Amino acid sequence: MEDQLPQHIAVIMDGNGRWAKERGLPRSQGHLAGVDAVRTLVRECRNRGIGYVTVYAFSKENWRRPEKEVSFLFELFLRFIREEMPELMAQDIRLDFIGDKRDLPFAVRQALDYALRKTASNRGMVFTLAISYSGREEILQAARRAIADGLRPEELDEATFRSYLYAPNTPDPDLVIRTSGEERLSNFLLFQSAYAEFYFSPVLWPDFGPEELNKALGSYAGRTRRFGRTSEQLHSATEGKCYE
Ligand code: FPP
Repeated sequence: MEDQLPQHIAVIMDGNGRWAKERGLPRSQGHLAGVDAVRTLVRECRNRGIGYVTVYAFSKENWRRPEKEVSFLFELFLRFIREEMPELMAQDIRLDFIGDKRDLPFAVRQALDYALRKTASNRGMVFTLAISYSGREEILQAARRAIADGLRPEELDEATFRSYLYAPNTPDPDLVIRTSGEERLSNFLLFQSAYAEFYFSPVLWPDFGPEELNKALGSYAGRTRRFGRTSEQLHSATEGKCYE
């Protein structure tokens, strides 16, 4: 039967701005509180034995936000990457990145490259930051690189295509969580979410703590994932996943 704990959780962290507004604070304070929620999420998932956590920190579309907010967010990412290093090392967590690295300010790219190298052999969990990420762009760049490699159409099967995605060795997300009551994928992990379960929480991201995570995991545990099979097949299935 299916494992009741997701192996990979991907999170669309939404609602920082509303959280701040509700308190009469500037949006930046919402993002700051959002960082604490990220830290808690990573710690909780590590303790629960979840192997992969991916957070949507900044989409390609987020570049359209006011310049002041964008630069504040990148300051936060930079500080987060630097400050979390001791914890990531102590907890045996490997940091990974998906997105368009060319878009990142030099200091962020530099800190990120250092953190990726430094944590590369950690095996306890993989924590992936999606920054300047777009699911469509990820698919397009995979197609472009496959063409540039001279692949013939008949050579391009699913496994080969996957090898061109940003993180080819990361399993597909089993559970995608979005906070703040919005129920959209917003260009996140489009290819990889094909069979994901979705959990939409009304809670704003800074308030998404251990209890909310438990609710999401409880909801996931109660679901039956069929991967295209009938429920009869599912009950008699002993091996493999059928994607038809
Ligand atoms: C969505 O809230 C949040 C973001 C676009 C940024 C996500 C960033 C963080 C949680 C903080 C830093 C993260 C890391 C990994 C260090 P919103 O601003 O869209 O909120 P709103 O919809 O209420 O306006």
